[in-house]
Amino acid sequence: MESLRGLGYSPETAVADLVDNSIAAGCENVWIELDWNGGAPIAGTSDDGMGMEASVLAQAMRLGGSGLSVERRSSDLGRFGLGLKTASLSQCRQVSVISRQNASTAALVLDVDVVGQRGWFAVVPNPLPAHALVSKLQEMQHGTVVLWDRFDALSGLSGLDKESFFLRLQDIRAHLGMVFHRFIDGDARRAKIWLNGHPVKSWDPFQRAHPTTRPMHVERVRHAGSSFTVRPYVLPHRDRFANDAEYERAGGLGGWAARQGFYVYRGKRLLVAGSWLGLGGARAWAREESSKLARIEIDLPTDLDQDWRIDLRKSQARPPGALRTRLTAIAGKCREEAREVFAFRGKRGQRAGSAEPAAPIWVAKHSESGTTYRINRQHSLIAACLAKPDDNQSMLHAVFALIERTVPVERIWLDVSEAEGAPAPNLDKEEEALLIDQLAKLAAALPSSLSAAERINVVLCNLPGNVESLKKVLTEKMRGKA
Ligand SMILES: Nc1ncnc2c1ncn2[C@@H]1O[C@H](COP(=O)(O)OP(=O)(O)OP(=O)(O)O)[C@@H](O)[C@H]1O
Ligand SMILES: [Mg+2]
Repeated sequence: MESLRGLGYSPETAVADLVDNSIAAGCENVWIELDWNGGAPIAGTSDDGMGMEASVLAQAMRLGGSGLSVERRSSDLGRFGLGLKTASLSQCRQVSVISRQNASTAALVLDVDVVGQRGWFAVVPNPLPAHALVSKLQEMQHGTVVLWDRFDALSGLSGLDKESFFLRLQDIRAHLGMVFHRFIDGDARRAKIWLNGHPVKSWDPFQRAHPTTRPMHVERVRHAGSSFTVRPYVLPHRDRFANDAEYERAGGLGGWAARQGFYVYRGKRLLVAGSWLGLGGARAWAREESSKLARIEIDLPTDLDQDWRIDLRKSQARPPGALRTRLTAIAGKCREEAREVFAFRGKRGQRAGSAEPAAPIWVAKHSESGTTYRINRQHSLIAACLAKPDDNQSMLHAVFALIERTVPVERIWLDVSEAEGAPAPNLDKEEEALLIDQLAKLAAALPSSLSAAERINVVLCNLPGNVESLKKVLTEKMRGKA
């Protein structure tokens, strides 16, 4: 009993296990009530699914009652015949199940202390437990209520002060909105989930409603006489969200970096919410900042359970060895694309009404000695400014504004962090000669009240690296002019 209780459920995964059962029972609504109750919480879950008659309920309270060996419908989210018991008793010491079918009621209670003394016994409660959900059930034709009483230290919900409890409720709400998003308003059979009277809102990991989410090529993968689809997406750059709050919400529970990678669904219920599944070649991919916009949907039918090693808590899945190469290739492409979107905020946009990508303001030039970032002189706006030396003032300001707004911060950050530092790139002879000419011109434009040495200092003081040799050449050049 103790081992079963310590399987490592969190309150959200435990509640999700009950919702699985309700959805598998064909419900339209699941009502979840989580009551703080002064730090000794009470939880009740109710659904309007098909319910159970007494003999089915007795079977349901057994461990593994209808476990791995039974044939299941493809819409059945269950697998092990354990969830109801293990999830419930991971949180509390007593679970009561009250179910109605054909307008007759059956009820059974499992209690950790009773099981400890007498073995696996479920007790028929008389009278029925007093709870608002039970009274409501009595007026329904069919449905099931599960009550959790006597939460103990095993649960992350017990012993909390009121504020912490309500913060945990937010996590549970977000978790349910994520795990069951396809049931709430996606492509699965509709089910509404209510938490303390308020509907749980769905969270789509792929932000498909966003106009700049980029779906990539969909692949159908065959395996072990069955098949499944893989849909990679590259999500929009931060700049494409209306505001920070929307960007944060799209990131999801735990934030963007934590939520990248594969999203594995089983029967449209989300099992794995962002993981690279140990893929990536010699060294498994980590959750890198640069790949955080990559999210890949894998839609598994329930008949591939065995191969994907679905765990009891329905929060893990591991791809079969034979598929690793294929999945690594798909994910590799998606990560690459995502890195580009992340790095080039000013580049990848499209010119309105044209299939041509807009020209970048900044270009990165890679060479042996490092990477330099240049203003693109060929860009039509910058070229226009250069071509009109006369009314340069306002044009220059406009171009400066453009440049300031497009500094490729992420691109630079990425290059620098991957090169473990920013080297000051060396200039070749030609580039150096040009730079000296330009600096001399600038120095000459400075107020004549400054001495030559002072002017040279002014033009050199912002440049990185060792400027001594530049200073020497420049001094000679200025002297030659004077
Ligand atoms: N809300 C419910 N409505 C109707 N039947 C239910 C409900 N909850 C549980 N049952 C019945 O009880 C059985 C046992 O549930 P349990 O969650 O323990 O196992 P499972 O869903 O079969 O498998 P898993 O361990 O993968 O969850 C279910 O197969 C189902 O027949
Ligand atoms: Mg179950």
